[in-house]
Amino acid sequence: MTEDNDKKRSLFYGGIMVIAIMIIYTMYLNPGNILEIVIRGSALFGFMSLFLAIVMTEYMTEIKKIVGKPFLKVHHYFAYTGVILILVHPLAFSLKVGSLSPFIPVFTPLETFLELAGRPALYLFMIGALAGIYRARLKVTWKQIHLVNYVAILFALIHGLLIGTDLSFNNPLGILYILMGIVVIYIFFDKRK
Ligand code: HEM
Repeated sequence: MTEDNDKKRSLFYGGIMVIAIMIIYTMYLNPGNILEIVIRGSALFGFMSLFLAIVMTEYMTEIKKIVGKPFLKVHHYFAYTGVILILVHPLAFSLKVGSLSPFIPVFTPLETFLELAGRPALYLFMIGALAGIYRARLKVTWKQIHLVNYVAILFALIHGLLIGTDLSFNNPLGILYILMGIVVIYIFFDKRK
């Protein structure tokens, strides 16, 4: 492996470590009970995993060199991990409140829609994942459907910032997540240049 690849490798794994440490540290400051840790941890790590799955689409050739596996394999690994975690997140919350109502999206008023934007985000992520899985059958349309992932991750970010315990507009983890959101928006436009 060349020196250049070594640098990219350190950046990739170092970046993951920094995000993970910041999540763990922020949660440690205000731990809560085990169910709350599962709800928040699955949301924060699920978001991270889906963020990485999106970001790596901008660096397909580099990913192969850094991880040593085909891009699609690595992309799927992060996407599946993320989807499982963001399913655990509302399931655990549902368990906490003893109801399935958290799975029903609320569209009005706007403030509530944004606070609970994780609900539509969940369905959009599912649609995005299914489009990827059935891409051979969907032919060219799968790529357009797969784009809902961008909307979903931004909905999830707004939702997390508005009602999350660990994310806020002025704590370091919140600012890191906002930066992740900005990176996602940049990648969306950069890939369409
Ligand atoms: C039916 C779907 C969903 C429900 C009912 C739900 C519910 C919640 C609740 C109640 C919280 C506050 C937890 C707390 O801080 O104690 C929260 C936070 C959060 N949610 Fe969701 N959510 C859903 C979907 C999603 C999805 C799909 C994502 C995508 C990653 C997501 C990401 C987040 C994030 C990042 C936080 C902030 C966690 C924290 O600050 O510790 N949520 N969600």
